[in-house]
Amino acid sequence: MKFFGRMEARNNELYIGGVSVERLRQEFGTPLYVIDEGDFKEKAGVFMDNFRSDQFATRVIYASKAFTNLYMAGLLAELGLYMDVVSGGELYTALKGGMAPEKIYYHGNNKLFQELEFALAEKVGTIVVDNEYEYQWLSELAGRERVRLSVLLRVNPGIEAETHKYIQTAKDDSKFGMSIFNQKTQDLIEEMSKDKYVDFRGIHCHIGSQVFDETFFFASARAMIQFAYEMESKLNVDIREINLGGGFGVYYTEKDQPFELADFLKKYIQIIEEKLHALNFELETISIEPGRSLINNSGSTLYTIGHIKETITGRQYIFVDGGMADNPRPALYQAEYEAGIGNKINSEPVQEYTVAGKLCETGDILIENIKLPVASPGDILIIPSTGAYTYSMSSNYNKIGRPAVVFVEEGECRLAVKRESYADLIRNDVVRR
Ligand code: LLP
Repeated sequence: MKFFGRMEARNNELYIGGVSVERLRQEFGTPLYVIDEGDFKEKAGVFMDNFRSDQFATRVIYASKAFTNLYMAGLLAELGLYMDVVSGGELYTALKGGMAPEKIYYHGNNKLFQELEFALAEKVGTIVVDNEYEYQWLSELAGRERVRLSVLLRVNPGIEAETHKYIQTAKDDSKFGMSIFNQKTQDLIEEMSKDKYVDFRGIHCHIGSQVFDETFFFASARAMIQFAYEMESKLNVDIREINLGGGFGVYYTEKDQPFELADFLKKYIQIIEEKLHALNFELETISIEPGRSLINNSGSTLYTIGHIKETITGRQYIFVDGGMADNPRPALYQAEYEAGIGNKINSEPVQEYTVAGKLCETGDILIENIKLPVASPGDILIIPSTGAYTYSMSSNYNKIGRPAVVFVEEGECRLAVKRESYADLIRNDVVRR
């Protein structure tokens, strides 16, 4: 198992941010999401320090769908990041957690009318318009409230990044945004730029997630700048911002070879500057929207091992006290993970196991075939690299409460989300009378 951030072994036990996995289990129980706060802050610093230019302003917008709660929103606000939300619920969380409304970007292909009303009432900084129908609603709402709304338009630059097909987002027939090759897109830009209630600031794209080939990002940056330039020359509109989305790939297992972030970000800036220079074109702001690459490697999930079963075919199952309810990614995307036994972290991995959850579903397998030290009931299984899209995609399937979330730093633990109790599971149920 690869160690991330502030993980270290002391006397054959794993410590994260100076806290032992046994102490975490004793204080908070398992399954447990653990976030290495020092590592996250360092990652945020890598983005903020390297995605910088003296020719335009830059913004690092955290994609909250990867992992969000009040604690996280507060931490992001403190670090000076912006936040992207995709629903009324994410917006509510961001605001309640202390994120300034002007630093929020609101995305979504089908924002509801009441969600847009909520965003307007809260004075959200930027609405990223997905299509012409949404614009009609926005224009009507802004006119009714007599406010000037700051918007970007989500476009597809036609770059198909290689990744799992469920997380490709910029194909020509994608449900997100509008193609730059579509005349309707130009017409909408023209219409928005004439609307007195709409301040059309620029364009946005997101070419996919968990992308390892940096050339896709460079190609999309060039295509976006080219498109913005053409729109300005043709339509007499003023484009001030390009938001290039997120999608930077991260390490889950040895099969993943992510690029080095700091180098990549510097190169990204350089390519943007070169393209702007070649066109003699100026922009006020370039933003990016990382989710996974900011949070994933700072998060781990701890489980307690229950029964260990050998089947008639010789397969050795380790059963853990969670599963697809706290991490649906293996079942949904065939996602692969590494693991270790936290209380035997330096012991030799000699036995091949399949890690299965406790949910009533054959597909509830977290890891197929992984070599671990000989496991015993009561051991602590750690799956690292689970910060993104686990807690945020968790469910109550089988009426299992969601795990707690704890941030650790320099030997201190801070509870961010309490474990759901049985009472929480039925809090909205109504008894039949
Ligand atoms: N911006 C927009 C508009 C997005 O749609 C996304 C992700 C991001 C930024 C952040 O992408 P990231 O940097 O995290 O790759 N549930 C899937 C991932 C879905 C991503 C959807 N959009 C998974 O577990 O792999």
